[in-house]
Amino acid sequence: MSKKHAKTLSIKQDAEVSHESSAVGALYPSPEQKNAIAESLRTVLASTHVVALQARSYHWNVVGARFIPLHDFFGEQYEALQEVEDEIAERVRALGQPCFASVQEFARLATIREDEQLPKSANDMLERYAQNLEHLNDGVRSCLALAQEAHDEVTADMMIGRLREQEKALWMVRSMLA
Ligand SMILES: [Fe+2]
Repeated sequence: MSKKHAKTLSIKQDAEVSHESSAVGALYPSPEQKNAIAESLRTVLASTHVVALQARSYHWNVVGARFIPLHDFFGEQYEALQEVEDEIAERVRALGQPCFASVQEFARLATIREDEQLPKSANDMLERYAQNLEHLNDGVRSCLALAQEAHDEVTADMMIGRLREQEKALWMVRSMLA
């Protein structure tokens, strides 16, 4: 190892030590907090998956005079939520936890109830979708509270972004029902 390299390494190690023991360390989530946030994110992920599937099912099955706008709306929702799933899963990994994707795992973790059968009308679909977005936002807010308490600004920012998009979607759905 060159002298220069050795010096760089020693500075890096000192920085890591001082980060752990200094006041700055209190501004980072503890390992326990990271685990709790990752667990909460996995629940949000599973619930997001249920809502994404629901949007896709409505995209396929909606009927009536508003077919085109509703078919498009639910299709866009499905595509956006799929990207969100990827973003959340990658955040779980960045927090050092595994993120196993399986139908059973998602069903176990999701806090949102799946439809037992297809809603009969377009309005019934919109009503069910609004209910599920509200439940999804409850889970996002719980995760946000954990992240903020732990100074996990990255997860907090992600959850605020989810609320911004999902509250907007909720406004659109309620407006279609008005
Ligand atoms: Fe399609």
